Amino acid sequence: MSKSKKNNSKKQSNSKKVKCKGNTKPLNIKNKTICVGKCPHSGGPIVYDPQKDELLCPWHGSRFDVKSGKVLKGPSVKNLQIIK
Ligand code: FES
Repeated sequence: MSKSKKNNSKKQSNSKKVKCKGNTKPLNIKNKTICVGKCPHSGGPIVYDPQKDELLCPWHGSRFDVKSGKVLKGPSVKNLQIIK
């Protein structure tokens, strides 16, 4: 088997489809998929910041703990919904 075929088969085995409940959406973090809600401040999208290992809302800069969803930096005063 060629090197590229080996890499493709490895990629496929790591990319599981995750169905998220309610208003949460899948977010890949370090080869793991979690389900996150929208930003509790004003409904912005949540992205992963690998440099700080935090979840970030790019609209107004709220930051959340990647494991618990706890607010690390406002303007959001509510925690982020995370379903693992
Ligand atoms: S909508 Fe996310 S910080 Fe404002």
